[in-house]
Amino acid sequence: MKTIPFGFDLNGPDFIPSEYDNHIQRHLTAMKGQYLDQTAYQQRLAQGDDLLYEVYELRRPTVPGELLHGISIVHPGLVGDEYHMTKGHFHEVLETGEIYYCLKGHGFMVMETPEGEWAVEPLYPGRVLCVLPRWAHRSVNASLDEDLITFFVYPGDAGHDYGTIEQKGFRKLVVQHDGQPAIVDNPRWAAAEAG
Ligand code: F6R
Ligand code: ZN
Repeated sequence: MKTIPFGFDLNGPDFIPSEYDNHIQRHLTAMKGQYLDQTAYQQRLAQGDDLLYEVYELRRPTVPGELLHGISIVHPGLVGDEYHMTKGHFHEVLETGEIYYCLKGHGFMVMETPEGEWAVEPLYPGRVLCVLPRWAHRSVNASLDEDLITFFVYPGDAGHDYGTIEQKGFRKLVVQHDGQPAIVDNPRWAAAEAG
């Protein structure tokens, strides 16, 4: 890990950083249970464990004051009528936010608080998105032919809580409806709330 100030290059069309420490690849199997249409999920899986999204990280110490950052690339596609998306998470230290800057593609950031507030904000090249403290976040690629690429930065001590989202999903889903993205209620979230 670097101990003096550093820079790196981040250029199109691929936006793979000129330097990185960690390359995470999430395949279909990593998203088990996350897409609503389980039959469509199993049918996709029968054809292969496709790569759905990737993250390039520049590692920094996970302590307050450090800024963790990297690139997230969500490849295009559908599982049933749901667009490819990240797992999504709350930060373990709930009172930490995150900044995203969209470099390429079109999609949405789906967000919600533990209290049940929700927000869905568009992502497109040049768009900056502020995920406020307390808001879980998931990026969704709403294009079927282009990667959704974002740069992100968040506090070093934030940590990740994936479990809450794995259990209930997000309150809202982004689905393809008549060839267009549509934001709909997630029945799994409602069922989990009802207990
Ligand atoms: C970090 C963050 C992003 C995501 C990345 C992949 O706090 O929000 O770097 O980690 O977009 O998404 P997840 O982590 O939800 O699989
Ligand atoms: Zn985050």
